[in-house]
Amino acid sequence: MKRSIEKRIKELKSQIERHNRLYHEKDAPKISDSEYDNLVLELKKWEAEYPELASSTSPTKKVGGKARADFDKITHSVPMLSLDNAFEKEDVLSFETRALRVIEKTQAPWSYFCEFKMDGLAIELVYHKGQLTKASTRGDGTVGEDITENVRRIACIPQTLQSPLSAEVRGEVFMKISDFQALNRSREKEGDTLFVNPRNAAAGSLRQLDPEITAQRPLSFFAYGTGLPLDINVKSQADLLRKFQSLGIPTNPDTRLCSSTEEVLKFYAETKARREKLPYEIDGVVIKVNEFTFQDLLGTTSNHPRWAVAYKFDAPRATTTLKDIEVQVGRTGILTPVAVLEPVFCGGVTVSSATLHNEEEIARLDLKIGDEVEIIRSGDVIPKVLSVRKEARKNKQLKTFEMPSHCPSCGAKVVLEQGLVGRWCPKSTKCPAQIEGRLIHFASKDALNMEGVGPQWISRFYDDGLLKLPSDFFALTPEKILKFERMGEVLAKKMIQSIQARRQTTLARLIYGLGIPNVGETLAQKIAKQVLNLEGLLRVSQDKLLQIEDVGEIVADSIIQFRNDFDSEIKKLSEILQIQAVKTKSGPWLGKNFVLTGSLSGFTRSEAQRLIEERGGSSQSSVTKTTTVVIAGAEAGSKLKKAQDLGIEIWDEARFIKELS
Ligand code: IVH
Repeated sequence: MKRSIEKRIKELKSQIERHNRLYHEKDAPKISDSEYDNLVLELKKWEAEYPELASSTSPTKKVGGKARADFDKITHSVPMLSLDNAFEKEDVLSFETRALRVIEKTQAPWSYFCEFKMDGLAIELVYHKGQLTKASTRGDGTVGEDITENVRRIACIPQTLQSPLSAEVRGEVFMKISDFQALNRSREKEGDTLFVNPRNAAAGSLRQLDPEITAQRPLSFFAYGTGLPLDINVKSQADLLRKFQSLGIPTNPDTRLCSSTEEVLKFYAETKARREKLPYEIDGVVIKVNEFTFQDLLGTTSNHPRWAVAYKFDAPRATTTLKDIEVQVGRTGILTPVAVLEPVFCGGVTVSSATLHNEEEIARLDLKIGDEVEIIRSGDVIPKVLSVRKEARKNKQLKTFEMPSHCPSCGAKVVLEQGLVGRWCPKSTKCPAQIEGRLIHFASKDALNMEGVGPQWISRFYDDGLLKLPSDFFALTPEKILKFERMGEVLAKKMIQSIQARRQTTLARLIYGLGIPNVGETLAQKIAKQVLNLEGLLRVSQDKLLQIEDVGEIVADSIIQFRNDFDSEIKKLSEILQIQAVKTKSGPWLGKNFVLTGSLSGFTRSEAQRLIEERGGSSQSSVTKTTTVVIAGAEAGSKLKKAQDLGIEIWDEARFIKELS
């Protein structure tokens, strides 16, 4: 095993180094950024798992390519690092969690500064007493190429600053899309080779041994950071960009100061939507902790700062072979084809299966078993098959897939409903896959939330005959489950305690947990408000169900069908469980949204929230246009400021107490 990993590490290193050379030295990449990221992520993973195989010369320890032989070298006074990448919201949230561990200890207000991630190349400009003295590329992060003479010929980069300050300015040189197109048009006329994209055109134009060639190329520049700050004495990223502006250094005006992750995610979504209309190419959003005191506190790793992350637009992709197509039966009986893949590394994880949704999708993709496929891991965790590489089909044994006519779990003849759910198994009470699926769903986080009772254990209990219906969970005892392999006394006791603790639950959780087809969490809440208790669910008429918002005939029918199938189980659950009465909200603060900020001396945060909710109000975590009142305790920070900016009503603690009474 270790041998083959050693071999793989060697292979990855040489591939990455080759692509580094192609990208950084020849400005002619052969693979996409996301394919490159996959190689690096895989190497990082192996090096983390087998540190003894990681060497200090690994490309994961270096930034970018080596400086080109024909330029003079410049050593950066502070290394030019790269940014850590995020591909999904979860990655951004864990970046925030890590940062907050450090920041929150200080209890001082903080914010995020968001910028576009410009798709060009990083350079450093050194100004001495207001005069541009040196310019360099990033190179390997420590030593870059001296491109001073070339940079002097970029019109938008000032030779002289508005004040005679010394500074090391970092930023991105890029080419606008219209300039790139015009450049390629004229190159075509001249019979010159065309640039693949604006970034390569920018890099190729800047790294010319003859500066006069650079002079003829339409290059642009935005500054976003410093090396040694020297005379630049500011406290935050926002101030830094303002300072650059005042010195005549171009910066991107499209930035946003954010006081919460929600705002950051909003900026990301808005930017992503605008991306195609922008005059230049960007490949993501850079999220930076705004305050320099916190940036210093967070520091850097050997390759990237801990105070910033690049949230990329393009989800990671990878190419692999489709080994088979399996059909899974879900808890509602729907048959879903799933791609069984040759395991492939994609955006930080090994992927061995992908969803194919339904048979129409397979036909649309013209997918055959044995095909080479491109997969993508976007927002959600389940990877998707994006396309088939038809050009790789030659001389391959391919097999056409057909959906089964009988349920792979129970053998019942499947029902085919065109345009609705596709194929499904009608034996809801008898089909093992559906029974097991419902049990797993019942215990899951958003349903009964039986902590520590995960799918693997449930499957084993089910196979053993201990579980068949949700009510069976409550008949389990430590003695009954102790016989299973890897189950110890402590674990058995804990598991049973966690199950028993869920005898008390809410009606909405239970309705959702039953797994009625077409009834999600939100709808379960609405149904709970209408039926009020489990008896109510057993009695409610079709007409009453139809009065509920979002309940149409299909949903009403599926509720009634489910109720008929599981009548005795629902009755049994109503005897076992203590269901909290459904509270209907009322009170003087009905419809008002509150945000708590700073610390209150007389209440804990949760007490204050409870008091608000008892009066019919809701509490929110961040200040938005929908906020009605901000309750500001001592040392309230950015939320208070935002409330003032938005003109939202603000109560201090004394006012809160007065209003409570
Ligand atoms: S901040 C410590 N801000 O992304 C690195 N970088 O992988 C600080 N980039 O080398 C960089 N737009 O070439 C920063 N608004 C932005 C950026 C940006 C593009 C590039 C830059 C850097 C690479 C990081």
